[in-house]
Amino acid sequence: MTATRTVRIFDTTLRDGEQSPGASMNLTEKMEIAQALVQLGVDVIEAGFPIASPGDFESVREIAKAVSGAVVCGLARCNNADIERAWEALKHAQQPRIHVFLATSSIHREFKLRMNQEEVIARAVAGVKHAKNLCPDVEFSPEDAARTEIDFLCQVVEAVIEAGATTVNIPDTVGYATPLQMHAVIKGLRDRVRGIDRAVISVHCHDDLGLAVANSLAAVEAGAGQIECTINGLGERAGNCSLEEVVMALRTRSDYYSTTTRIVTQKLVPTSRLVANITGIQVPRNKAIVGRNAFAHEAGIHQDGMLKERRTYEIMRPEDVGLERTDLVLGKHSGRAALADRTKALGYQLSPEQLQTLFERFKMLADRKKEIYDGDVAALCEDQFSELPERFSFVSYDLACASGHAPRVMLRVLQGGEEKSVEVNAGDGPIDGIFLAIEKLTGIATVCRDFRVQAVTVGKDAQAEVTVELQSTDPEQSGQVHRGRGVSTDSLEASAKAFLAAVNRVILGAQPRLHPQRT
Ligand code: KIV
Ligand code: ZN
Repeated sequence: MTATRTVRIFDTTLRDGEQSPGASMNLTEKMEIAQALVQLGVDVIEAGFPIASPGDFESVREIAKAVSGAVVCGLARCNNADIERAWEALKHAQQPRIHVFLATSSIHREFKLRMNQEEVIARAVAGVKHAKNLCPDVEFSPEDAARTEIDFLCQVVEAVIEAGATTVNIPDTVGYATPLQMHAVIKGLRDRVRGIDRAVISVHCHDDLGLAVANSLAAVEAGAGQIECTINGLGERAGNCSLEEVVMALRTRSDYYSTTTRIVTQKLVPTSRLVANITGIQVPRNKAIVGRNAFAHEAGIHQDGMLKERRTYEIMRPEDVGLERTDLVLGKHSGRAALADRTKALGYQLSPEQLQTLFERFKMLADRKKEIYDGDVAALCEDQFSELPERFSFVSYDLACASGHAPRVMLRVLQGGEEKSVEVNAGDGPIDGIFLAIEKLTGIATVCRDFRVQAVTVGKDAQAEVTVELQSTDPEQSGQVHRGRGVSTDSLEASAKAFLAAVNRVILGAQPRLHPQRT
């Protein structure tokens, strides 16, 4: 039997994940995610890019102080100012790591850095040495490694290990690599770089061609010891390797990969839901492992097979990712205990106060809807999680509309406990009318970039789930996108809630910050 080795899981949800358009998080939200990542069992938390903004610095510093049980890492470009700022934020961590990066591919050398190969190596070595003087744990990333000439990549990796790097991360920055190529790069480094055993080889794959998980697995097969990934695959452009997918692939196919991770897989669904609700970026229903349909069997032939022996159509047990299977349908007469059981089984951890509010909403929903399915409970919980104080919240609307006439909308909202109302007689239809009413009442002007409605469950009385993306017109926010979500059996009410949730995010805004790879 082959010995099982442990692959380290480096989570970069709070750094690369936060680079997803519209995924900015505040300090409280980042802290909540960092604690959830510790519970999940990740080895390394990349908490941010400290020089990017005072807000980023503060989040890394607070996470570094609060976290125990995982390495806390901060990103730095390969210059003294970045590295010192990163150290300043990390120095109180129990296990700090400085992550220094510098591009190495010919296209980046020529057009971005305007440096030749020797200059790149010299800068990389100087950066790693400087970081090493501050912190014993130093990771170096040759940015765009997957498009870097392999001979040159070997030279860079050898030089940074010699300079003290303890982890060398191989990023496929633009998601260009293929699995066999990634395998060859890692194997090439293992075969050719002197001293390679003194460092952990890591991979960081982007998903532009939908290959991030496959490329990361290929790297592990070739001997990589660390995978950089994010919850729900969040990240720059098409995102990063999805943590839940890569971890469950290694676990489900441990017969093939002979590896293990320290991830507590039963926490995957709750962590995914927490991140989706904090960022407002919902997980597609059919997403592997954590999508709502990932363990739903619709086809009769599948259901029949499942009843006889579930392994006929299921390669993982839902409870192993934090979902408990149930066919139980709740209704008007279900009590608080039944609801508490359901929410727990669905992977939500609610405080007694949250459960009380949820129960009140559940009763209201049960008056409107006969049968309440898991999807309904999940939707209610997600609304609950995303509710933050001191913002606008929906109360009610009155509407009169007819084809060919502008709608008349009267909207009432709560702002800090005080009810406010507004009336408009404008818009192309009821939803546009509601949107204009919200803009008038909150004084926030935005451009609507996306608007989607879908049914949460089956049946005519199903709840509508509305998601919107609004772009701020505030020049200070430089076109940032903010998301909102609303759920109700009334699709107009769901729309109003979604618009208000997104406007609330616009109000919170985000501080101007540097982007690590665009400067
Ligand atoms: O994609 C990338 O190259 C990165 C580096 C900073 C590791 O995010
Ligand atoms: Zn990246």
